[in-house]
Amino acid sequence: MTHTFPASPPAGGPLLSVRGVDVGYRTGRRTQLTAVHDATFDLYPGQSMALVGESGCGKTTLGLGLLRLLPRTGTVSAGNILFRRKSGDVVDLRNLAEQDLRRFRWNEAAMVFQGAMNAFNPVLRVEEHFLDTFRAHEHRARRRRELLEHSAELLSMVRLEPARVLPSYPHELSGGMRQRALIALALALRPQLLILDEPTTALDVLTQRSVVEQLTELRERLRFAMVFITHDLGLAAELADRVGTMYAGRLVETGTTRDVFHRPRHPYTSALIGSVPPVTGDLTVPEPLTGGPPGIGALPPGCSFAPRCPRGIDECTTTRPELRILRARDEGLSHAAACLRADGAELSTEEATRD
Ligand SMILES: Nc1ncnc2c1ncn2[C@@H]1O[C@H](COP(=O)(O)OP(=O)(O)OP(=O)(O)O)[C@@H](O)[C@H]1O
Ligand SMILES: [Mg+2]
Repeated sequence: MTHTFPASPPAGGPLLSVRGVDVGYRTGRRTQLTAVHDATFDLYPGQSMALVGESGCGKTTLGLGLLRLLPRTGTVSAGNILFRRKSGDVVDLRNLAEQDLRRFRWNEAAMVFQGAMNAFNPVLRVEEHFLDTFRAHEHRARRRRELLEHSAELLSMVRLEPARVLPSYPHELSGGMRQRALIALALALRPQLLILDEPTTALDVLTQRSVVEQLTELRERLRFAMVFITHDLGLAAELADRVGTMYAGRLVETGTTRDVFHRPRHPYTSALIGSVPPVTGDLTVPEPLTGGPPGIGALPPGCSFAPRCPRGIDECTTTRPELRILRARDEGLSHAAACLRADGAELSTEEATRD
């Protein structure tokens, strides 16, 4: 695949550099469905990026693929996932051997899974989950008391009362408490990257709020980078420095939260934001989206969004648009969109020179 993105991370550059990544699932003896196509983006240390898009667009698949946590039928079938390790070495996670991967996960990158509130083993007390995590990662030599003190510190960071939570069984905690405990557990070994998949979806609004506030505080304190998967654009706007919009398995727009939400350049992003028309361009009357995204096994030729696009032209049904940088910026903050018509909606000089 050709990209307008640099091929490799510059020195001192991104923590994560994803290039042309395809992720597929085997669905029969000979059938393989590609659920994520050609994902390409950079994430810098300490940065947070929200992945947004309709159900089934591939957000979870991409998140799992990045950390090689896919189910057995899933594979990363193309591309590079370059990660700058704590040692400073840049490795392609696709090439990491299973043993190395085990050391890498939790220590350098951790994931809180979608629907993770039930991820705790119901027959183990919360403290055993923490101890197991430490022990599985070269903390064998440290004493139980010391490890429990560390666990308590982590739980306090998410405002849970360690004396109550550590000896509890998971079912003795509320959903919100379990979710916070899981976030604390994911951060136990101080990873540089945390991937959170819809961490607040099952929570009531107030609990959601407190989880979001704690995540913000934790990031300020521990400075980990974050990929935040959500379909809640409000949360994305609040938590993320950058946004990636996905449609039918492709990243169709990436940029700073401000660029993507205030000046969307892909009609699908505009539609997601509630049909607010882009500041520039010829879409003046927002049209509600009709229909649904295509199935991953039946993508139309050309742009997958073309059948629903209010701005489509004939060429969109035959030519697939690449994700192109429309406005270059450092540190992965460029604004890029995969739309043939994005050029037709150029920024005004005033906008192009702002900030
Ligand atoms: N284990 C699997 N086997 C086959 N196909 C799968 C598997 N998991 C996901 N898919 C398919 O891959 C596509 C992307 O699914 P994915 O779960 O990544 O979407 P998502 O964006 O996370 O959706 P949601 O917002 O509902 O969580 C979907 O078409 C889904 O049916
Ligand atoms: Mg998902």
